[in-house]
Formats: sequence, C-alpha cells, structure tokens
Amino acid sequence: MSHLNIAILGFGTVGKGVHYSIKSHQARLEQVLGKSVNVVAILVKNLEKHEQSREDGVLLTTNFEEILNIGELDVIVDAIVGCEPGHTYLTQALEKGIHVVTANKEMFAHHGEELLALAKKNDVTVGFEATVAGGVPVIQTLRQLLQVNRVRKVEGILNGTSNFILSSMRKDGHTFEKTLRAAQENGYAEADPSNDIEGYDAYYKGVVLSQLIFGEKPEEQSTIRKGITDITADYVESADELGLRFRHIVTLFKGQKGVQCKVEPVLISTEHPFYQVDGVQNAVSIETDLVGNVQLQGPGAGMYPTASAILEDIIQISRPVNSEPAYVVYQEEAANSSKWVLFNKNKKLEVPYDIKVLARLSDRAAVVETEEVERILLENPLLAYFELKGNYQHRVEKVNV
Ligand SMILES: NC(=O)c1ccc[n+]([C@@H]2O[C@H](COP(=O)([O-])OP(=O)(O)OC[C@H]3O[C@@H](n4cnc5c(N)ncnc54)[C@H](OP(=O)(O)O)[C@@H]3O)[C@@H](O)[C@H]2O)c1
Repeated sequence: MSHLNIAILGFGTVGKGVHYSIKSHQARLEQVLGKSVNVVAILVKNLEKHEQSREDGVLLTTNFEEILNIGELDVIVDAIVGCEPGHTYLTQALEKGIHVVTANKEMFAHHGEELLALAKKNDVTVGFEATVAGGVPVIQTLRQLLQVNRVRKVEGILNGTSNFILSSMRKDGHTFEKTLRAAQENGYAEADPSNDIEGYDAYYKGVVLSQLIFGEKPEEQSTIRKGITDITADYVESADELGLRFRHIVTLFKGQKGVQCKVEPVLISTEHPFYQVDGVQNAVSIETDLVGNVQLQGPGAGMYPTASAILEDIIQISRPVNSEPAYVVYQEEAANSSKWVLFNKNKKLEVPYDIKVLARLSDRAAVVETEEVERILLENPLLAYFELKGNYQHRVEKVNV
C-alpha cells in the first residue's frame, strides 16, 4: 500500500489532535484514500517540551529546512500561531509543490489570497476549513453552495470564548470580569484573551469568509470590530427581562461600498436561529438567492473538532480523482439509530416476538429497537412508527433494558 506523508507544524492543541486522530482513524483513512497516512515530521519551537513525544520514524525538529528536505512529503499541516513564521513556511512549501492545510486564521486572513494564488501557480492546494468555526464544515458548505447560489449575507457566532462568556453571564448573573476569570480557570479562555474578547479572532474569520464568498477582503473603512468587554451584568439582565440575548456576531454582506464586515455584540430574540446557541458552540447562517437560508452549528474549536476539519481537508486534497465518497456505515452506528416508537392506531399493540422492546409507554405504544421497522409495518398495516432521536425519559417501568 502506498503512503501519504504528512508534516505537522506546531504540536499544541491542534497539532496533537491531528496526530492522534490520524492514528485513531488510520483504518478509515486507508479505506477512503487507498493509502496509509503517515506523520513523518513535527516542527516545534521548544524541543525540550516535546522530548517525551518523540517517536521512531518521526522527525521532531525546530528547523523547517529539515522538513522541506524530506524526500517525499505530500502535505504540510500548519498548526502554529501568528502570521510568522507560518506564512513564510507555507510559501516555501507551496513553491516546492507540497500541498498545505492550515488552521491558522490570523495568518490566512492576512495572506490567504496570496497563498491561494501561489498554490494555483504550482498546481497544489491550500485547505483552510479549520480556520473558521473549527469542526463546523462552513468552508466546504459554502464552496458547494457557491457553485450555483449567490450568497447574500452570512451571520455567524464564530468565537466560542465570547459566546461562552455572554451565555454564562446570563445564566449566572456575574460580571464580565468574574465570568472571564472563571472561563480562564476552566480552559475556555486563554491567559491573554484579547484576541477573542476584543473581536480580532472573529474578524479574521470574517476576512477568510469574505475572500471565499466575494473574492475580496472587507472594506476597511466600513468595517466595525467591537468586542464584548463593555457588556455589563446590568445589560444582560435587562435584555433577559425582555426575552433577548446578547450574541457576538460577525455579519458579512456586499453593499454598494464593497464587502461590509461587522463584528459586534447584538441582541437577538427568540425567533433568531442563534437564540439557543449557548456556550462554546459556533453557528453560521448563510442567506442565498436560490436555496434560501442554510444554517450550521457545532463545536467551533478544540482538539478533535479542529483535527476533524484538517483531516477532511487532507482527504479532499488526496482523494483519488473521480473516486466516489466512501460511504461506510459502521455497525455500531447503525445499531444506535434503530430505536423507534411504535403505535397501534386502534387497539392494543402486540409487538412481534423477534423485536426487542425497550419500554412500554401504554398498551398501544412502545419503544422498540430494530433494524427492520419497514418489515414490521408491511406485516402490520395498523401500526405507525416514528424514529426516536436521542434519549427518552418515561414514567412507565422499562422492559428488557
Ligand atoms: N485551539 C483550537 O481549538 C483552534 C481551533 C481552530 C484553529 N486554531 C488555530 O490553530 C493554530 C494552533 O493553535 P493551538 O491552539 O494548537 O496553539 P498552541 O496549543 O499554542 O500550540 C502552538 C504550537 O505551535 C508551536 N510554535 C509556535 N511558534 C512556533 C515557531 N516559531 N516555530 C515552530 N513552532 C512554533 C508551539 O511550539 P512549542 O510547543 O514548542 O512551544 C506549539 O506546539 C493557531 O493558529 C490557532 O489560531 C486553533
């Protein structure tokens, strides 16, 4: 079996997440790509910190030249912080004909256009799904939509830390400062949180989206970038009394003066799709001319969500041309999605003997587990069935659980 050789720049939260996920999903990657995925090198800043992570066959170095000189390197994953040295390293990689995948939004907001042009010139690819909303597949979704649709407006909760602080202030009634301290103690905010709470991080993501959707950066003069530091406990409480919630939102649309990007705290009401999006979750609402409104929600950061976005990019880059997506249903997943509520419309429900009953709800209804619900229905036309999503609670004694 052939190999896909990967180097990871940076071995912090994201770099480690990529390394661990490649190991844990090796079989799946082989199945999709038809080759094994090997991490052959890791670049860090301080070698001493990482001595215990040293592995046979994996070059651990502080010298990027050594990585560039690896004979057969297919993809470089950028998981370091700040514009430099990431920008210089990725430029060199693309010039050498190596694909790159980056999670570094600050670098990509500043240099994305230039790197994409360089990649095109050298017939390689830049993946950047992880730069916006971590594990939420915003970039792939937009790429798909943009083939036909025109995107009119995008709104997003793109910074989990700010959203966590605003939702915690509402729930706990604490001040901004106290909530921020608690967020830092619990690992939801960095020791230096300014990038998040001042709106820079969300703005970088807005820039990345703007370039993808409109092919240009937002107009600097009309850009608004406000953080959440002025939101007081009083404001939050008053808003709550009105049934409104604060959200820190990026809004992006193309006006007469070019692309407008606003990053600011706004108040939203119950009908808005972001009303229920609490904690570190991210959410994106995409307004288009044909399909209408498309919404995505999920974990915007973290080791494995971000690694997932990076692996998806690696797969996009490396999947054999014209290959079909490998839809493989895992046995355990199939089993998880086989719970149903069965009703007998007219009389007492008699569940066929070979179907597992998880709970009797009444004499006409039961929760069952089966892969063959359609067969049951064919054999019992008086039955109705509904798939059960998630957990159920009921007041009747459980049977067979
Ligand atoms: N954390 C997330 O959930 C998340 C989500 C989406 C995107 N991102 C982006 O992903 C990137 C990495 O984030 P992270 O949270 O993994 O950061 P992190 O935990 O602070 O790790 C950063 C890593 O980069 C290495 N590094 C820093 N400067 C370097 C240099 N000059 N040369 C070589 N290595 C250098 C560090 O090396 P040492 O360990 O030796 O110091 C460290 O291993 C950032 O751009 C971030 O914005 C993060």
